[in-house]
Amino acid sequence: MSFRWLKPYLPRGLYGRATLILLLPVVTLLLVVSVVFIQRHFEGVTEQMTNTMIREIRLVLGTDDPEVAEMLDISVQPVPEAAMPAQDTRLWYDFSGIVVARELHAAFPDLLRVALADDDVVELYFRGSGGLLRFVFDRRHVSASQPHQLLVNMVVFGALMTVISFLYLRNQLRPITRLAEAADAFGRGRHVPYRPAGATEVRAAGRAFVDMRARIERQIEQRTLMLSGVSHDLRTPLTRLRLGLAMLGEEEAAPMLRDVDDMQRLLDGFLDFARGAQEGEAEPVDPVALVRRIVDDMRRAQVAVTLVETEGTGEVPLRADGVRRAVENLISNAVRYGTCAEVSVTLSERSLRIRVEDDGPGIPPESRDEALRPFARLEPARNQNRGTGVGLGLSIVVDVARAHGGALRLGESARLGGLCADIVIAR
Ligand SMILES: Nc1ncnc2c1ncn2[C@@H]1O[C@H](COP(=O)(O)OP(=O)(O)OP(=O)(O)O)[C@@H](O)[C@H]1O
Ligand SMILES: [Mg+2]
Repeated sequence: MSFRWLKPYLPRGLYGRATLILLLPVVTLLLVVSVVFIQRHFEGVTEQMTNTMIREIRLVLGTDDPEVAEMLDISVQPVPEAAMPAQDTRLWYDFSGIVVARELHAAFPDLLRVALADDDVVELYFRGSGGLLRFVFDRRHVSASQPHQLLVNMVVFGALMTVISFLYLRNQLRPITRLAEAADAFGRGRHVPYRPAGATEVRAAGRAFVDMRARIERQIEQRTLMLSGVSHDLRTPLTRLRLGLAMLGEEEAAPMLRDVDDMQRLLDGFLDFARGAQEGEAEPVDPVALVRRIVDDMRRAQVAVTLVETEGTGEVPLRADGVRRAVENLISNAVRYGTCAEVSVTLSERSLRIRVEDDGPGIPPESRDEALRPFARLEPARNQNRGTGVGLGLSIVVDVARAHGGALRLGESARLGGLCADIVIAR
């Protein structure tokens, strides 16, 4: 049997589930105990006690000696007709009262009423030869002490214990929540202070996370240091080379100058990549205004790009420099491999999407993963006349998107037929 249909109704959070796990056994236990104990045990005891009482009442009914009644602790009084209640009475929670009345009525066909007005006394009404008779005796003769007290006790103590365990449980769950928050923040490129705490297992997971975070941070730092170090050191000899070439004759130097320029561009790409997405802190930025500024700046530099559509308003925590570099990379790819670029921004409750489309050849689905890798250039033959790139453009975009907890998605543009590149960032 599958319980999958139950899933939508079950709580999703750890707190809700823990509460359920906590409450379910307690409530079941209470129910089982109530049913078994009250239904079976109390009914049986009440039945037995009532039967003993029935024998004593028979004794009283069968004799005229008032001492018998006195000895059996039953008071018999003649009462006026009006004193008799219109029907059997009992309190709503008095479950054993049902059994008492049932047994009595079964034993005495001529018994008129059984009145269980409160927990303490039982009143029976018989019609004797001299008029209406009321038998009054102690309730303790016919049923064990009140079962509803047991119920009340169970509910009150059950609730009390649940509250206490929930308080303990909350302390156990808090470290897990904190670990989740720290991991989530790190995924978005933020470093929040976190100290492993809680149960051994949670603490172990926390320590593993802290170690992992430190290792990743160290690696990013090393990558940055190495790449920027190499690029920086290569710049000086390159500048010297350029100066040296300038001394040479025009046509001899031209091809070499082009090579030097290529190398220069490569180094600039390295530096960009090395600086990566990690620099700066995320600040609330209006993404629509930011993209509009980027597009305007590029238009002024004679790039064929338009901002075609914006949807939604609001601010999103972004590293403006990183996002600018990413969008510029996408636009320059679009106009390099196509002829024009169209940009749109969609800001919804849950996410931000910056889309760049072009009318170029696009990237076939099977090559998309490849295109995102650093230093990857696809089909050099196809792009020969487009100038040589370093192959870092898209990997920088991926880096920036990841640093914001987002991703870069490549697809086919429905509007222009070329590549459709989406930077999607969760808010
Ligand atoms: N808009 C596009 N249309 C078609 N192909 C593209 C597009 N953008 C990227 N590509 C392909 O993906 C490859 C990787 O792109 P990426 O931007 O990473 O490097 P690049 O443009 O070659 O060099 P760089 O951007 O570092 O100067 C490109 O070589 C190209 O083949
Ligand atoms: Mg590029």
